Amino acid sequence: MQIITDPGQMQAIAEKLRLNRQLIGVVMTMGALHEGHLSLVKLARKSAGTVILTIFVNPRQFGPTEDLLRYPRPFEQDVALAKSAGVDYLFSPEAGSIYPEHFQTTLECGTLAARFEGEQRPGHFNGVVTVVTKLFNITKPHTAIFGEKDAQQLAVIRQLIADLNMDISIVAAPIVREENGLAVSSRNIYLSSQERSAAGIIYQGICHAEKRIAEHENNLQTIVKEVKEMISSTPGFHPAYVSFVDDTTFQPAETADAGKEYRLLLAVHVGKVRLIDNGKIRT
Ligand code: PAF
Repeated sequence: MQIITDPGQMQAIAEKLRLNRQLIGVVMTMGALHEGHLSLVKLARKSAGTVILTIFVNPRQFGPTEDLLRYPRPFEQDVALAKSAGVDYLFSPEAGSIYPEHFQTTLECGTLAARFEGEQRPGHFNGVVTVVTKLFNITKPHTAIFGEKDAQQLAVIRQLIADLNMDISIVAAPIVREENGLAVSSRNIYLSSQERSAAGIIYQGICHAEKRIAEHENNLQTIVKEVKEMISSTPGFHPAYVSFVDDTTFQPAETADAGKEYRLLLAVHVGKVRLIDNGKIRT
């Protein structure tokens, strides 16, 4: 595995790979690699001969109250994990080479990014699509793998690809869960062991919603209320939002129509940690 820090060098390597008819798959991360990221690498391997993993803690997607400096950066451990997962190139640029002094062009998302994570984290998705576009231009992938855990991010990136005619296919990777159902995330390390085991309640909420839909409850507000109650009755757990959305438009849905796909989106505060999760629910 080769470690590259210079965007120009990465771009030149990607161009050469393309000229040699190599299919490039990219997995973009902010580091602190875990099982979820490794599952994305595995998926990339299936569709691409060369896998590039990017590690860049993107300052532009952190909200004004979020602590960029506190974000975990276990680089040596990440290098070892990436190597053992079979990554070919690890691209890990310095912030100054991605956003040099005179940098001034940013992308702006539309309505898909307005609610939920976009509402609670102002500027977040504009920062995401700007860096993702830069990383696409630097790594020149044919395929890019993103996790379904960040469902709204995935939808925003699919929209970016369509709106800007990018010739890249997006693969969605299923959520990886811990034994109790907690979605694997870099933020889980901030939970106490007690909080971590209690956090299975979030997944139980998703399963409850699935069960209620299967029982033909079509008032989605009723189900949301039940899920919120389940979560808030766990000491220290406070839902930030729980909402059903149409799975393609991300517009909130109030009643379940037969034969449609919805997504239940959840964000939950546990102490200083904010966990997100979601589940696709078919009627
Ligand atoms: O999902 C993430 O880790 C980040 O939002 C991404 C896609 C790497 C962009 O910084």
